[in-house]
Amino acid sequence: MKVWLVGAEGQLGKSIIAHVNEHCAVYKASLHLVCSSKKDVDICHFPSVSDFVTEHSPDIIVNAAAFSDVESAENNLKRCQQVNVTGVANLTNAAKALAIPIIHISTDYVFDGNSSVPYIETDSTHALNVYGQSKCESEALVQQISDKYIILRTAWLVSSFGRNFAKTVMSLSKQHSQLSMISDQLGCPTFADDLATTICHIILAIEKGKSDWGIFHYCGDTAMSWYELTENILDEAVIQQKITSRPDVFAITSDEYSAEAIRPKYSVMNCQKIHDIWGIVTPEWKDSLKRLVQNL
Ligand SMILES: NC(=O)c1ccc[n+]([C@@H]2O[C@H](COP(=O)([O-])OP(=O)(O)OC[C@H]3O[C@@H](n4cnc5c(N)ncnc54)[C@H](OP(=O)(O)O)[C@@H]3O)[C@@H](O)[C@H]2O)c1
Repeated sequence: MKVWLVGAEGQLGKSIIAHVNEHCAVYKASLHLVCSSKKDVDICHFPSVSDFVTEHSPDIIVNAAAFSDVESAENNLKRCQQVNVTGVANLTNAAKALAIPIIHISTDYVFDGNSSVPYIETDSTHALNVYGQSKCESEALVQQISDKYIILRTAWLVSSFGRNFAKTVMSLSKQHSQLSMISDQLGCPTFADDLATTICHIILAIEKGKSDWGIFHYCGDTAMSWYELTENILDEAVIQQKITSRPDVFAITSDEYSAEAIRPKYSVMNCQKIHDIWGIVTPEWKDSLKRLVQNL
C-alpha cells in the first residue's frame, strides 16, 4: 500500500512516521509512506493536490493535516474553513478520482458536551466553536464526496511531537511551583502513538480487502479533566524522574480561565464500534501514559 500521509509535519503525522519506522519489520513489506507537509502540498490548492496524486499514485490517503488551533480558529474563521473544509474536499475529490480510500481525522469537538453518557457515532453533532464546526463540515463533505472513507474522531491528542497539552504541562512544571488547570471539562486523552497504531492497523486491513467504511470513534479509554490529566502526567514524570520538583496543581472552572473558544464540558466518546468492526482495542490509559511520559 502506498500511503499518502498528508500533514506529515504535524503531531499525528510525525507520530505515524515514528510508529512506522519503529515497527518497520512489521510494515516493511506492505506499507510505504509518501509524506507531504504544508510546504510540499497546500491542501487548499486543488492543482497542488492533483499534481501530487498524479505524480505518486497513492493507494490510500491519510489526512492528518488540519487547522487544529482551537483558540486561534475563533479569530481566523476563513483560514480554518479553507484548511479544514476546502482542503479536505480537495483531498477527498482526489481520492475519489483515483477510486482510493481516504482516512480523515476528526474530533470530539463536533459534539456540544450536553450528553451525560459517552457519545456514539450516530449521535447528533453540534459544535460549540469555529474549529469544531469546520470539522463537522469536513465530515459531511467526506461522506458526500467519497464512498470509501474512514472518519476517525479522536480527542485530546498528546505525544512528544508538536504542540500539545502534555508537552505544555512538562514545560510549565519546570517554570512554576503552582499550576491552575480546568476541572469541569471531561475528555479522553489519546496518545498519538496509539492512534498511529490504529491507523496502520486499518490500512493493513484495507489492503487485505476489508471495506467497512464510516465514522468511528477512537480515543483513550479513561475520561478525565485537564486537571486530572495534569496530575497524571506529573505523577508519572516524578516516577520516571523526568522532573525533580513537582508543582502543586489547583482545580479551576472554565469560567475562571479566559479562553476565546467555548469547549464542550463532556466530550467522552464510546469506542465500541471500532472495536466491533475493525477489532481495535484501546490500550489502558495507564499504559499509554507510561509510554507517553517516557517519550517526553
Ligand atoms: N491535537 C488534538 O488534541 C486533536 C484532538 C482531536 C482531533 N484532532 C485532529 O487530529 C488531526 C491531527 O492533529 P494534530 O494534533 O497532529 O495537528 P497539528 O499538529 O496541528 O498538525 C496539523 C498539520 O497540518 C498542517 N497544515 C495546516 N494547514 C495545511 C495546509 N493548508 N496544507 C497542508 N498541511 C497543512 C500543519 O502545518 P502548520 O503547522 O505549518 O500549519 C500541521 O503540520 C487533525 O485533524 C486534528 O483536527 C486533534
